[in-house]
Amino acid sequence: MRMGVLTSGGDCPGLNAVIRSVVHRAVVDHGDDVIGFHDGWRGLLECDYRKLDLDAVSGILARGGTVLGSSRVQPAQLRDGVERARGHVADLGLDAIIPIGGEGTLKAARLLSDSGLPIVGVPKTIDNDIAATDVTFGFDTAVGVATEALDRLKTTAESHQRVLIVEVMGRHTGWIALHSGMAAGAHAIVVPERPFDIEELAARVGERFSAGKKFAIVVAAEGAKPRAGTMDFDEGAKDIYGHERFAGIARQLSLELEDRLGKEARPVILGHVQRGGTPTAYDRVLATRFGWHAVEAVHAGEFGMMTALRGTEIVRTPLAAAVETLKTVPDARYDEAGVVL
Ligand code: F6P
Repeated sequence: MRMGVLTSGGDCPGLNAVIRSVVHRAVVDHGDDVIGFHDGWRGLLECDYRKLDLDAVSGILARGGTVLGSSRVQPAQLRDGVERARGHVADLGLDAIIPIGGEGTLKAARLLSDSGLPIVGVPKTIDNDIAATDVTFGFDTAVGVATEALDRLKTTAESHQRVLIVEVMGRHTGWIALHSGMAAGAHAIVVPERPFDIEELAARVGERFSAGKKFAIVVAAEGAKPRAGTMDFDEGAKDIYGHERFAGIARQLSLELEDRLGKEARPVILGHVQRGGTPTAYDRVLATRFGWHAVEAVHAGEFGMMTALRGTEIVRTPLAAAVETLKTVPDARYDEAGVVL
């Protein structure tokens, strides 16, 4: 068989592990041909690719980013995008496409699959918000990076008796905020799923100082928002792809909290550091399993599907189920943490 693999959307630790695993399973075990498209869907739309053999994936397991490059280009953005993709798949004699990506990429994968192309998706995002899989690779790495940062920030916050508001990634969901905040013992967490009341947040942090504590750490998911009418709030502008470019919840909260509490407050934005660098062992293993199972799905002729983790098993689930809703954090999980507003 001949298959094409691509990585699309925001990069994520573990992408290279999937690419390597696809090549190992397909080329070594099945004797298939694998090509890699450059920069996500752009490579497919412009027929920009290279052959992937064992040499091409040697030494990439532990490397962050993606050796194939990524972009946010989606076939549906171009008037003839779907037709072009179909034409190139036919010209290249491909039996399958394996797109590795998040919500936007999997929506595009579904569109192409509905148009008749043989697609097996692999979910990825540090945000962990893709429905139909219990976990996405990249999440564990991002939580580890954020937790280490929070641990470090505690000592400087304490030295200066400050409130530090630490902004972590999470556009629509608070998975990274919840897990890193719990792991590091944050004093308050604000998340997109639960619009917060600034007075309640200030009271929570204020109580800590009243109890004699010298510092406080607030974790804010970048997509967290105040309850309507409770605080002046700049939502930020969208980028050229219509993607949120956040206005800095940490910066805005630091001003509000400093005013209300009379304590020095500083914003810390962890940003893309959460996405860069080497994946954890957990993410490498999950990514490797997804790659192996994607190739098996291709050989079984099960298209229009995505690999997913259910409990400890890797299963195949329809792409449609993966893109219908986002996987938000259940209320009970927030309640367990005890510090989520
Ligand atoms: O979806 C992954 C993610 O890292 C989000 O957490 C974040 O909001 C977004 O991508 C950032 O995207 P970009 O790299 O385009 O700024």
